[in-house]
Amino acid sequence: MSKLKIAVLISGNGSNLQTIIDKIEEGYINAEISVVVSNKENAYGLTRACERKIKTEIVDKKTYPMKKDRNKKLMQVLGEANVELVVLAGFLEIIADEIIEKYENKIINIHPSIIPSFSGKGYYGEKVHRKVIKSGVKVTGATVHFVNKETDGGPIIMQKAISVNFDDDTRSIQKKVLNIEHEILPLAVKLISEGKIEVVGNRVKVK
Ligand code: GRF
Repeated sequence: MSKLKIAVLISGNGSNLQTIIDKIEEGYINAEISVVVSNKENAYGLTRACERKIKTEIVDKKTYPMKKDRNKKLMQVLGEANVELVVLAGFLEIIADEIIEKYENKIINIHPSIIPSFSGKGYYGEKVHRKVIKSGVKVTGATVHFVNKETDGGPIIMQKAISVNFDDDTRSIQKKVLNIEHEILPLAVKLISEGKIEVVGNRVKVK
């Protein structure tokens, strides 16, 4: 079977990118990362990509101050790389509708909570875990989902939960959640690369 061509979009550390790179190298995922795109020029994930000789592109506000120009560039980068799957791995920018339309059910995102809890507009990064602690919930986790026009609203591919203990703080929750992100994101990419994921309405069937 030919390798699935993927693009990974990042804004920061890129630990999720790293797990995908590692799992491809181990042979767990039959895919190749055609390009890593960052909207921050200093994202550490870019260094991770360069270390593995993966092509990188920076599509940031400095070079493209207008949102429409960033979208156009992003569309061009994805098109030129013949990407079949776009993985948002900590990419802190809303994807334009035209890109979502072109890549329908071909864009996935990792979100650090059990959607629909602690998700939607304004729920990103550490904020999510802060709100989790404040709310007093006993369970949180991570979700891999397809991206549609509703923020964090696309079909859910996979979720995994962790316990929130009384002694937990934002940092410890973030660490626990990140660990499970590193499990479920590569697994979702693997299942997609094997054609085992089917979208039925707003639900996902794992074959
Ligand atoms: C993760 O918590 C992810 O869920 C969120 O941003 C973070 C990215 O982490 N969307 P990293 O850059 O992959 O280390």
